[in-house]
Amino acid sequence: MKMVWNICLIAVGISAAASSFAAKDPNVSAIKARQGEMAIRALNVGPLFAMAKGKIAYDAKQAQTLIGNLKLLLDLDTSQHWPPGSDNKSYPNKTAALPAILDYLP
Ligand code: HEM
Repeated sequence: MKMVWNICLIAVGISAAASSFAAKDPNVSAIKARQGEMAIRALNVGPLFAMAKGKIAYDAKQAQTLIGNLKLLLDLDTSQHWPPGSDNKSYPNKTAALPAILDYLP
């Protein structure tokens, strides 16, 4: 049993080392950051869309909270999230961002 536990710990260690190695590429860090930002947007905008469509009941307090969260995201300085070369041509399996979008985003 202890042997199995040790093998699990080694596997976790290797995978943590691999992910921290990957994060050393600043473009990969930027891709992860902007995808996280988009995921937070999606999480907050989803219930607002559902309220607007009548799929869930309108809740003014919840709507205010969700809108406040989206406003916070708009206030973020995202200038580090879109470095040149962090597009889907250079990182085909990591990002959906077309090269052209990088020219438009801050
Ligand atoms: C409420 C507004 C928005 C929502 C809910 C949203 C949602 C999303 C989601 C869910 C993804 C996929 C993330 C992933 O691959 O894990 C995404 C990616 C992306 N979004 Fe948005 N988005 C919003 C606004 C915007 C705006 C305003 C822009 C640009 C003008 C934008 C540009 C992009 C780009 C370029 C990607 C690809 C990122 C990458 O894979 O590197 N999005 N968005």
